[in-house]
Amino acid sequence: MDVARLMGPHNGLHIAKFICREVPIRIAHIITIIDGLPEFLKVLPFLKTVRHWYLETLDDLLFISKYIEPLRNGSEETSFYVRHLYDVAKRILKRHEGVVLSISLAISDLKRDGQDVFDPKLQAFLDRLFMSRIGTRVVLHQFTNVYEHFANVSTDEASLANIGVFEQHVDIPALIEEAALNARSLMMKTYMDAPVVNVTYPQLKDENQSITFSYIPSHLYHIVFELLKNSLRATVEFHKQDDFIPAIDIVVVKGKEDITVKISDQGGGIPRSALPRLFSYFYTTANTEDAFDALRNGLSDMNHAPLAGFGYGLPLSRLYAQYFEGDLQLISMEGYGLDAYVYLKSLPANARERVVECTS
Ligand SMILES: Nc1ncnc2c1ncn2[C@@H]1O[C@H](COP(=O)(O)OP(=O)(O)OP(=O)(O)O)[C@@H](O)[C@H]1O
Ligand SMILES: [Mg+2]
Repeated sequence: MDVARLMGPHNGLHIAKFICREVPIRIAHIITIIDGLPEFLKVLPFLKTVRHWYLETLDDLLFISKYIEPLRNGSEETSFYVRHLYDVAKRILKRHEGVVLSISLAISDLKRDGQDVFDPKLQAFLDRLFMSRIGTRVVLHQFTNVYEHFANVSTDEASLANIGVFEQHVDIPALIEEAALNARSLMMKTYMDAPVVNVTYPQLKDENQSITFSYIPSHLYHIVFELLKNSLRATVEFHKQDDFIPAIDIVVVKGKEDITVKISDQGGGIPRSALPRLFSYFYTTANTEDAFDALRNGLSDMNHAPLAGFGYGLPLSRLYAQYFEGDLQLISMEGYGLDAYVYLKSLPANARERVVECTS
């Protein structure tokens, strides 16, 4: 939202300068993190490719920065270079689109070759890489969306609230309903069955009320969708011999500090000893090979993925939650079910972006 306001019809230069200063620093941190990896990881071809993409991006940004930095507001030159930065930002977003996919495929090959993909250094690297990626993409998407908005329509202060990736009043009930609908429909396709999902909002007096907050809706959607896919699958698997499949219950409450979304299932839970593994990339009890074969053969991508099998759902969802100082925690009752708690800051002023640095 700040970016939208900063951008304004006359302020494009301000945000352009912000992008040119901030994004190269983030990219440089990631390159440093890659360079600090153990040798057995650094030699992997996929990592070399990803590093090369980051270097190209750094070059692009440093090049355009030289022109953006000395500019002043209101000149024709300024509009020209801000437009140019817009093209560069689009190119960067496109270039890095495939990062998660290439890393997943490469590491699935490692796993197949019997390598330890749960190596703590590899896991920590992936956390930092993906967290940094989330942040960089948010900033760039916000810039390109806001630029497009001002290039196409004149706007007033009120409509600034919802330009770009942020929304000032994310309607949580509507978003959860959409995630549940899509997760259940994917479940139906895979298992021909899907438990009911009940959602309650104890604070709401009638259905005309809603719980809203300021956030990036696609991030919250991602988290709820991933958790629901897991709960749906666990519930149907655990009750496959039974006549009755219990529902999944979601409770949403807005406190002064946090909005909490609790997703409770009766999918049998997991043993306590397995809990730390759940947030490891590639940890899955689904058929990994099917999922990765579909990826290799172009039958799916990370956005149109099967119900389960990559072992990315939980670690990535936790990163999305933590990006604005929220969290994702799991409490299991082995033999009964699992409760997932998603914590999100209620007030945008308390939700600072988590930025990855090479020393952190
Ligand atoms: N609600 C749950 N109940 C029981 N086990 C669960 C639950 N959620 C996750 N798990 C276990 O944790 C594993 C990892 O979950 P995660 O979402 O990270 O990966 P996945 O579902 O296997 O694959 P994908 O990346 O496609 O989501 C699952 O394979 C499953 O064994
Ligand atoms: Mg999953």
